Amino acid sequence: MKAIVARDFAPLDKLEYTDWPEPKISGDTVLVEAEAIGVNYPDGLLVQGLYQMKPPTPFVPGMEVAGRVAAVGDKVTGFKPGDRVAGMPGIGAYAEKVALTEAATMKLPEGMDGADACALMCGYGTSHHALKQRANLQTGEILCVLGASGATGVAAVQIGKVLGATVIGVASSEEKRAIAREAGADIVLGYDNLRDELKKATGGKGVDVAFDPVGGEAFDALTRSMAWNGRLLVIGFASGTIPKFPINLALVKGYSLVGVFWGTFTRNEPQVYADNMKELIGWYMKGKIKPVIEGRYKLADAATVLGRVMARGATGKLILTP
Ligand SMILES: NC(=O)c1ccc[n+]([C@@H]2O[C@H](COP(=O)([O-])OP(=O)(O)OC[C@H]3O[C@@H](n4cnc5c(N)ncnc54)[C@H](OP(=O)(O)O)[C@@H]3O)[C@@H](O)[C@H]2O)c1
Repeated sequence: MKAIVARDFAPLDKLEYTDWPEPKISGDTVLVEAEAIGVNYPDGLLVQGLYQMKPPTPFVPGMEVAGRVAAVGDKVTGFKPGDRVAGMPGIGAYAEKVALTEAATMKLPEGMDGADACALMCGYGTSHHALKQRANLQTGEILCVLGASGATGVAAVQIGKVLGATVIGVASSEEKRAIAREAGADIVLGYDNLRDELKKATGGKGVDVAFDPVGGEAFDALTRSMAWNGRLLVIGFASGTIPKFPINLALVKGYSLVGVFWGTFTRNEPQVYADNMKELIGWYMKGKIKPVIEGRYKLADAATVLGRVMARGATGKLILTP
């Protein structure tokens, strides 16, 4: 089969589109013929050796796939060849065929677009877990989302609206702010004078929940814009800068800094994760959330597509198709 291979931790242009052995199936393994493969910012960190996890090289990157079951191992009880499924293999998804454990595989409704299914996993999964379990976002609260046109950001905007919040979306261009508005943001802002703008937008109260996948100076603005009892969610550092946190601000303003790590959550709390995905798919089927799929690209072009994500040039979800 064809796959994208990282021979070593290296810049994205060293990724190879090449022949690679099909995954072997046995025991609880489900082999999926890929229809859609999600591109995620962490994939770019992983192949460059900049991610928390460092797999042995060479490896096939990619953490999200949707498609049809091609074969199952002898211990698999819940799936059969032909079933439409999606799942998170950890790595190995940038390939024509992908092995998933049965526990990491979920059934898809027949009519559900594979690209949308990919978006619902890491992007919506992270935002949903962050807003529901980590922030306990309440109806009527003010939610501020940075990077509000990105994969996690646009999901946070939509989920924030489903949960009944007033949503402020922050993004760096008119085009990106239009996407945030389209996703349901009540107010959209740029990053300039963010602290003053948030003060104005919230009538001086500050934001109850902040969702930050960006870090850097924008995080600094959030640390000074939180409401009493607020929750500042640490999602990621797409700006490239891991900020320092002046802990006195948490004391004086009476808010909490809350870390979010979706991958670990899915392994540590599999039942809550399964319930979350069920809720997301239910909202999707009712039309309450709708992934923004920016484009579908050839698997062979993975390096270029991932490069665009890493260079702030992407909006919504980008998908590879074998
Ligand atoms: N904690 C977790 O469990 C978890 C899960 C998924 C992702 N993440 C992390 O969250 C971050 C965002 O992921 P994502 O999937 O939302 O990525 P994404 O789709 O690429 O969106 C990231 C957003 O960050 C903003 N940004 C600001 N400076 C940037 C820069 N120098 N380069 C690229 N983007 C920049 C961009 O919006 P503007 O141009 O509008 O600022 C962009 O839309 C990443 O660091 C990722 O590793 C964490």
